[in-house]
Amino acid sequence: MAAPVVDAEYLRQVDRARRALRALIASKGCAPIMLRLAKADEYTHGSNAGLKIAIDLLEPIKAKHPKITYADLYQLAGVVAVEVTGGPTVEFIPGRRDSSVCPREGRLPDAKKGAPHLRDIFYRMGLTDKDIVALSGGHSLGKAHPERSGFDGAWTRDPLKFDNSYFLELLKGESEGLLKLPTDKALLDDPEFRRYVELYAKDEDAFFKDYAESHKKLSELGFTPR
Ligand code: HEM
Repeated sequence: MAAPVVDAEYLRQVDRARRALRALIASKGCAPIMLRLAKADEYTHGSNAGLKIAIDLLEPIKAKHPKITYADLYQLAGVVAVEVTGGPTVEFIPGRRDSSVCPREGRLPDAKKGAPHLRDIFYRMGLTDKDIVALSGGHSLGKAHPERSGFDGAWTRDPLKFDNSYFLELLKGESEGLLKLPTDKALLDDPEFRRYVELYAKDEDAFFKDYAESHKKLSELGFTPR
């Protein structure tokens, strides 16, 4: 990918917005929804239950840093969300353009389906089995809300901490009070996926390294350097 060209003032606004995002996420405890917004922004536009909350929270930051595109701001919010909850540093390269038309015929994965569906969705975006499993570890943050998705509960005991507990819980099997989507369970049943689940459960550094790469990849889909 060619380095995008943004000017010095743009970079200054990115720095200031990064600080403002840290403060916002710390004070509102909204890291999970920011990460979900960043992920969703890359392959769906428009209605996505719950994401309006994140979009509204970011509006004042957009107003104070008007040069930054929405696409950059949403991706920066995802990067900061992972960082401030204890996850790896994901490299952020600014320069995304805003577009009212979705560049890809994207759709969100259906949580009720299995491994072939996950591969269908993620392969189309140029992502691999390793990316699918590493990115699923994003569910170490946050929870499902019955009124939004019909699912209920968090994947881990501390949904505001980014760590490898998603994989540890997955391998433990059903636990009282914790959620496992059919797409989460699919990672156990498929041998190629399971290999990474087992690796990430025993080696958090390997998870963080792969997660940072996969998150960057996801955040740069449809990136049009200007
Ligand atoms: C929440 C499905 C991948 C990050 C959710 C919810 C569902 C879901 C059903 C609950 C929504 C709600 O009720 O509020 C899926 C499926 C995926 C996937 C089927 C396919 C593998 C990802 C990825 C990331 C991610 C790649 C980011 C790296 C999140 C976060 C939440 C969430 C942080 C919690 C949001 C909150 O607490 O409000 N996901 N997801 N998900 N997802 Fe995913």
